Amino acid sequence: EKEKTLAMIKPDGLLGNYTERIKEVIVDYGFSILREITAQLDQDSASSFYAEHSSRSFFPSLINYMTSCKVLNWIFLRIFPMPKTKKIVAFVCVFQAFRQSFDSGPVLVMVLEKENAIADWRSLIGPTDACKAKITHPNSIRAMCGQDSEKNCVHGSDSLLSAQREISFFFEDVSSVTTHRYD
Ligand code: CMP
Repeated sequence: EKEKTLAMIKPDGLLGNYTERIKEVIVDYGFSILREITAQLDQDSASSFYAEHSSRSFFPSLINYMTSCKVLNWIFLRIFPMPKTKKIVAFVCVFQAFRQSFDSGPVLVMVLEKENAIADWRSLIGPTDACKAKITHPNSIRAMCGQDSEKNCVHGSDSLLSAQREISFFFEDVSSVTTHRYD
């Protein structure tokens, strides 16, 4: 029985040009890439995708990392009409926004299929903290491409329920997580 899981290459993976290398690993390990889209997550969609982490201290930072900020819109809408005194504070905020825009961007979302896809993809990507992965799982994707516990390059569903939720989050027409073989 085949299983489907949701895999995502995060902004640091796309910006670091790891996409092709990661796809080679995916195919080498026997996964089929059933569907694939590039998505630009905004605050609302990233918050709802990661809703289960909403009470964690790293949540605001995770959402910044996963979304790309519309710096110019922000400047025009918020700062242009401000009184002079507030503009200094605003300048600092804009500086932060620019910094953030360098490590955020689109994500590449894929539906992977194979037997035991959920657990196998999780073990292939390695532990959440990419620093630790470099020591304990040196052959994992996060060891190869990730930086730390947040910028860990890839995502994988952690259970059948998550896979179901996350696949339907991005793909309306891929409904069932398991498929039966008829051969
Ligand atoms: P992911 O597997 O996509 O699921 C939740 C994400 O939150 C995780 O990868 C990291 O990007 C981020 N994350 C998890 N733990 C931490 C942490 N301790 N500090 C910062 N970010 C984290």
